[in-house]
Amino acid sequence: MTRFTRIAGIGHYVPPGVVTNHDLEAVMDTSDAWIQERSGIRERRHAEPGVTCTDLAAHAARAALADAGWTAGDVQFVIFATLSPDLYFPGNGVLLQHQLGLGEVGALDIRTQCTGFVYGLSAADAYVRMGMYDRVLLVGAELHSAGLQMNTAGRDTAVLFGDGAGAVCLEVTRDERGSRLLGHRLHSNGKYAPELCIKKPGAANRPWIAKEMIDEGTTNPYMNGREVFKHAITKFPDVIGEVLNDYCVTLDQLTLLVPHQANLRITEAVRKRLELPEDRVYSNIQRYGNTTAGSIPIALSEAVKEGKVKRGDLVCLAAFGSGFTWGATLLRY
Ligand code: ACO
Repeated sequence: MTRFTRIAGIGHYVPPGVVTNHDLEAVMDTSDAWIQERSGIRERRHAEPGVTCTDLAAHAARAALADAGWTAGDVQFVIFATLSPDLYFPGNGVLLQHQLGLGEVGALDIRTQCTGFVYGLSAADAYVRMGMYDRVLLVGAELHSAGLQMNTAGRDTAVLFGDGAGAVCLEVTRDERGSRLLGHRLHSNGKYAPELCIKKPGAANRPWIAKEMIDEGTTNPYMNGREVFKHAITKFPDVIGEVLNDYCVTLDQLTLLVPHQANLRITEAVRKRLELPEDRVYSNIQRYGNTTAGSIPIALSEAVKEGKVKRGDLVCLAAFGSGFTWGATLLRY
């Protein structure tokens, strides 16, 4: 019988430290009004020093395992999406494998930034469908606060990003009509890599790291906000349309669109372009800021817990971000 993949459990975790826009006003030249008007964000979470991205992921993963009724021994493979790993290498996948005590299962790291969770879902789905694994743990997690420039020079990005993690337990199902991932669409265009990136350090440089890089500011996140905005508001609707067409699903049939929480203005522009009512597009960026690879699983987890997504509902997850990369997954929850 044909194999499919279903979400057996979901969970999320955000660190307790709330940083409001007013808190940011105290350390940089910005204002609550500017931030809310441009991004919709009211507050975000910052982890305490010493807490790692893997720690956030472990909390989310434990919540997902509990939701699925799995033990650590049930996980056969780990996929970890992040742009804020604990180390340059090895990746966070092995660190999570160790921290959760998963046994010597494989661990794959995904580096497609805001689109990481959607790419991760497609990879997990392929492994399960081909019969290689029956149960995969997928995590998207971000610890942005360690890398943000918390002063006026860094205000264009520092106000937007926050910390958090979300996880799903994915398992094989043979029920074609039941809860399952239907399919995915993935894209990239590396021409735009310089528009949203951390330029240095990196092995393109000799030496790969130097004090001058810090002095010149190239180790801070760089974002061409207008270029990101312009592409996001067309690529989101395009890729959502593609994945819906693939499976002959209309927007009317969709219970909820869960977009990557990039910016409320982007989400609103996409919502209007698709002519969807507000209650069918999920937003929690107001409370968490942009948590990049963590944003879709956090949002989906909250939507499930709030009863906005129930078993059997059609849900579309869509992302756009650094790379540029973009993609969408259609699923029956
Ligand atoms: N507080 C106050 N003023 C600020 C801040 C801040 N935090 N950041 C920048 N400014 C200033 C700028 O310095 C500039 O000042 P100037 O006119 O004196 O030079 C002024 O505000 C306007 O700057 P613009 O860049 O023109 O502002 P814009 O209206 O384009 O808004 C923004 C910037 C919000 C980044 C916008 O371009 C945008 O929404 N872009 C989308 C990018 C985004 O949301 N990315 C999310 C992460 S990537 C992803 O997940 C896909």
